[in-house]
Amino acid sequence: MATTFNSRYLVIGSGIAGLQYALLVAQSGTVNIVTKKESTESNTNYAQGGIAAVVSPLDSFDIHIADTITAGDGLCDPTIVADMVKSSPDLIERLLSYGVEFSREDDQFTLGREGGHSCNRILHSADMTGRELEKKLLEKCHENPNISILENHIALELLNCQDVGVDGGNRIAGCVVLDRHNNSQKVFLAENTILATGGCGKVYAYTSNPDIATGDGMAIAYRAGATLANLEFVQFHPTCLYHPDAKSYLISEAVRGEGALLTNSRNEHFMERYHPLKDLAPRDVVARAIDLEMKLMGDKCVHLDLSHMSPEFIKSRFPNLYKNCLKFGIDMTIDPIPVVPAAHYMCGGIEVDVNGKTSLAGLFAIGEVAYSGVHGANRLASNSLLEAVYFADKAATASMKEERVSLPLESSPLLTSVSQLVKGYAPMVLEHDWDSVRQIMWDYVGIVRSNMRLNIALKRLRNIRKTVEDIYRNSIISPDLVELRNISLIAEMIVLAALSRHESRGLHYTQDHPEKSSECALNTKLGKNEDLRAITLKDN
Ligand code: SIN
Repeated sequence: MATTFNSRYLVIGSGIAGLQYALLVAQSGTVNIVTKKESTESNTNYAQGGIAAVVSPLDSFDIHIADTITAGDGLCDPTIVADMVKSSPDLIERLLSYGVEFSREDDQFTLGREGGHSCNRILHSADMTGRELEKKLLEKCHENPNISILENHIALELLNCQDVGVDGGNRIAGCVVLDRHNNSQKVFLAENTILATGGCGKVYAYTSNPDIATGDGMAIAYRAGATLANLEFVQFHPTCLYHPDAKSYLISEAVRGEGALLTNSRNEHFMERYHPLKDLAPRDVVARAIDLEMKLMGDKCVHLDLSHMSPEFIKSRFPNLYKNCLKFGIDMTIDPIPVVPAAHYMCGGIEVDVNGKTSLAGLFAIGEVAYSGVHGANRLASNSLLEAVYFADKAATASMKEERVSLPLESSPLLTSVSQLVKGYAPMVLEHDWDSVRQIMWDYVGIVRSNMRLNIALKRLRNIRKTVEDIYRNSIISPDLVELRNISLIAEMIVLAALSRHESRGLHYTQDHPEKSSECALNTKLGKNEDLRAITLKDN
């Protein structure tokens, strides 16, 4: 029988969304946070740019709302965007009350700018905003007697229970988790389960994301019966460092916000040819332009040129980037930085309502794991940390109001069957399957897509997913296997979503349908009832 833990709230993931949620609900009950590595290891921790908010007299709610909706290319929910933007000053005040420090000059915030923003509105802590947020929120969680954080615990499956719903119906009543220390399975029971597991950049061979970003939350929610929306909208960040020893190293868009220019191997400032906003055009435009320039020139990268900017300014505005580029032999005050686009942010995710509630009772999803309607077909830069704290607030308020329910007893057949998930065969070498999924996605499901390439990817990914599922059911479960199972499922879902969108919109560009559909904009959805075979190859 697996060890059982009880709390009123179970948070899976320890990025900004999960920590902010935990701090809010801890006033009303106990919270367990499970996180699959160390608690600081989250996508949030790597956020360089900052958090967009209306805090300047030169800005307005209307302009921030309009910028978000323009970037989202017809798929943002305008009501949610407006409410989020109007809440932004209060959400920032709350972060300040936790001791978060944003860069200031003469006591005024120094506001950065990134692609798609009409004015400077990005609060940042030099170029280490995520690290500052993570540190201060974690400190607050550690001080709170109602919050327990369990590191190195990876979620396996949600517990979908038949007898715990308010009206006797189904409810998610927690999660089965693998303890990485000793590979034992544990059951975490909770009245409210909150997925805050971040995104899935690791489905691609090249990504700005850390190793944890394997789509776990989306995969377990889908397997439990939740609906996933708009997975075709994968945001590629235009500028990741191109260097053989640099893994996932992002060169923040804030660098272009301060005036850095993209150049090709002929030293041409090519963005002038692509968009009136040039280097600060929306991310999808810049990433596609770089992709095309590299293909036209036969080059492996383009460059970011900061040589016209003062070295003192560069070092004080980007101290971490400066230090890390030097480690790779690049002095960004003199040398152009070699950069390439890489998978960065999943704009789709688990479909949620205005309170972050999924279609499954007892289950919420907040942050990058969710599709909330804020980002639409393309996320405006630095809106993600804002969306995370906004939905943490909404989900906290809604879950504290949920009617109390009794959790399953330890002797319930559902829980006694958990230990049977462990099967006999020895762990297997999985590296080639990991690499195959990620390389297929990079080669066939990248910035520019076509039905032919997507169909090749679908066939190959489907074979891998089925094989991995067999291995999972028959061998000893390891964290690598858990993650491989999740990336192979989510990779296939991204392809299915991409095949079902017969237009180019936002981040999804396909040569077979290069125009935006004139019909009203729709979300693509994948749910258990639609089943993975619902969209077959012939549909295209
Ligand atoms: C960056 O610093 O360029 C990333 C910011 C973001 O993705 O919002």
